[in-house]
This record gives sequence, C-alpha cells and structure tokens, in this order.
Amino acid sequence: MTASQSPVSHFGNHVQQQQAVWAQALQAEQFDAALIHSGSQLYSFLDDYHYPFRANPHFLAWLPLARHDESVLIIRPDQPPVLYYFQPDDYWYLPPADPESWWGDFFDVRPVRETGQWRSAIPEGRVAYVGDAPALNDCQELNPPRLLNRLHLARTVKTPYEQACLRSAAATAARAHRAAAEAFRDGQSEFAIHQAYLHAAQQEDADLPYGSIVALNEHGAVLHYQQHERIAPHTHRSFLIDAGATCHGYCSDITRSYSASPGAFADLISAMDALQLRLCDGMRAGVDYRALHLEAHAGIAQLLVDSGLIRCDVEQALSTGLSSVFFPHGLGHFLGLQTHDVAGLLADADGTEIARPDGHPFLRLTRVLEAGNVVTVEPGLYFIDSLLNRWRAGPDAALIHWPAVEELRPYGGIRIEDDVLVTDAQPENMSRDAFAAL
Ligand code: GLY
Ligand code: MN
Ligand code: MN
Repeated sequence: MTASQSPVSHFGNHVQQQQAVWAQALQAEQFDAALIHSGSQLYSFLDDYHYPFRANPHFLAWLPLARHDESVLIIRPDQPPVLYYFQPDDYWYLPPADPESWWGDFFDVRPVRETGQWRSAIPEGRVAYVGDAPALNDCQELNPPRLLNRLHLARTVKTPYEQACLRSAAATAARAHRAAAEAFRDGQSEFAIHQAYLHAAQQEDADLPYGSIVALNEHGAVLHYQQHERIAPHTHRSFLIDAGATCHGYCSDITRSYSASPGAFADLISAMDALQLRLCDGMRAGVDYRALHLEAHAGIAQLLVDSGLIRCDVEQALSTGLSSVFFPHGLGHFLGLQTHDVAGLLADADGTEIARPDGHPFLRLTRVLEAGNVVTVEPGLYFIDSLLNRWRAGPDAALIHWPAVEELRPYGGIRIEDDVLVTDAQPENMSRDAFAAL
C-alpha cells in the first residue's frame, strides 16, 4: 500500500473535516458542545460475560478505536477535540494500549483510569450527548434527532480517509473470499469454509461487520443464512458467500456465488454477473438509486425470461410482482461505519423520509447519488420455498415454469455484491479492484 492509499496519511484532514461538520451541525442546532460516549460493555442477564462490543459509530467517525469502551470525546466548535481515553488499571482484561501517534496527535488525549471520570469535564453551556451507554441515561439532551440527522447526512459523503479504510476493508475481504472459494472447491463444510475465511482475513468474528453468510446448496436461498453447518454435504452443487471485513471500524460487504459444475445454474451466475457489472456502472452522481433498483428488477426479469424460468414478458413480470418472488430485497444500501449505513432514506434534518417505490418495502436507499457516496450493488435471484409456494397458490401460478424452477431449487440462489464509490466520473468498484489486485 502506497502512502496515498493508506488511511493513516489522510487522517489529519479527516479530523479537520469532522471538526467542520460537527461545528456546523452544533451551531445550526444551537449546541455549545457535544459529548460522545464510545459505549459500555453490556452483560448477559445474570452473568458476568458481556456481548461482543461495538463502539458508537459517531465515536468511530472520529477515532479508529473500535474496541474501546468507556472513552469519551468532547467536541466544541472552536477548540480541538478532547479525548478522555479509558485505560483502566485492570488485571482481568488487557487494558487499551497507549495512544498511537498517527491518530492521537490530532486530539487532546487525557487518559482516565475510572469509568465516569469524564463527568467532571462536562463542558459549559448546552451540551448534546451522543451514544447509547447506560451512563448517559440521565442526560437531558441525549441523541438529539435533528443533530443526528445532520451528522448522518454528512456521513453519506466519505472523506479520503474513509474511502481508504473502505478500500482496505474490501481488500481484506477479497483475500478471504478467495480462500473461502478454494475451501468450497475442496469440498469443505460451511464451518470449515468460514474458518478459512477468518484465517485469510486475519480477523475474528467480532471484527467482522456482520455474521458471515456461508451457504452451500439450498442454504443460498436464505437471504441472511446464519448457520455454519459442521458437516459437509454429500454433494457441493453451489456456494453463496456474503462476507465482509473491517478497517478501523469501516466495513466491506461482498457477495460471490459459485456453481460446482457447468450448466443452467452456472449460466445464470454468468448472466447475473454481467447484469451486476452494468448496474455498478450506473452508480453515478445525480442518479436516483430508486431508478437503479427498478432497473435491476427489469434486468432480473429479463434473466428469468431468457433462462425459461418464467412464461411471460418482462413487463408482466414487473407489473404482477413476479420479479420480487425471485429478487425480494433491495439493490443495496449505503456502506460505511455500519454495513447498512445511515441516512439511506433521509431527506433532511427534520427526518423526512424519501419514499420507496410502491411494492418495494425492503429498499434501504432512496436518495439521489452524490460523489463520495459508497454503496453496495447486490442483485440476486433465489429459489425461496415460502415465496414460491405463495405464488403457486395465487392466480398467476402459471407464469412460473415450475419444472425449470424445480431443477434449480437445489442450488439455492445467486447474489453478487460489490462496494462502489460514486465519483465525479467513473464509479470506482472497490470490490472488483480488490479481487483484481490479488
Ligand atoms: N450482508 C448483508 C447485506 O448484504 O446487506
Ligand atoms: Mn452482503
Ligand atoms: Mn449489502
């Protein structure tokens, strides 16, 4: 990685930009300061073990401290950010290391040994508290919606630091996807494939942006399949893997689909790959993502016609809702510190939502794209029993060519998902670039 590609070299500018964004949002909402709590460890009921910790994304937007609980950041429009850096004197758990200079140099860092020491440093004036730590529950202006909406809107445009983190997260995931594909070809179980993925990524489950979807055969039809079968199936027909990685809290979200052998399912994957690339190329500034979602439906309907899975034309597949039987989710979403990143439907600081197209309740992004947005593009085509059975019981059952569906049902489904940066010119496909660089 060259210096210009490394997130580190962009960090100072990122902090400056954050400072400007927060100053503007605080002033617009008449706050004098903000206090951002990184979060607290939450314990299982009646237990002293806690859930995996995930830092408050508003804290992570400032600092690459994904595993740091009980730290607090104080932001004032006209002063450098102050970090109350929690470093307990603990012999049960390893305390956080001393700050590294690449990020620490941009903050007034004050190490604290006890939780809640920040209370003595609450700034004067009207303070917005941001976070979900139980310690904030008695704070009056907790997560003010208009302030958060302003910040969420700003987060839709990624800084060069954030873009570099997202690129790096894509590169890690691509490396791990390659190892997973090899494990699939080697006939391994979902569990073993998942282990191969983690090993290649050099990340553990708690580092990943979401639970990896590692689906062999029919399991590919379960959109968020969450098991990792320990035993390999007798036959490996197909493999769908939807798995990402993180870099300083920023996520990748990548899906690949494979067929073990040539044939109708492999052909469908190739056709979907061509459609997905065409859709990626459409991710341009000024384009309404809703139109791209509807274009994906038209493209998938065409695949269904061409492959003989349905017996009607594209128009009828769209007007009857038949394309949604095979493609029941949205084309994609914003990507950033959260896999399904904030503000996908948000129009303004009041929280007004931009409506989804009728009949598309699961679309997570309805905005017009801008340079600096990072989005996923993830068309799919699945053989989902419950949706197929509902259709079969309805008036348009004959529009599906059932023998063709029966033939492909054991293959589960197809999804191809890339992470794409919208620019002022050609979109940058971070995922494809990462695979190409392996
Ligand atoms: N991995 C979840 C999604 O693609 O949205
Ligand atoms: Mn995904
Ligand atoms: Mn996704």
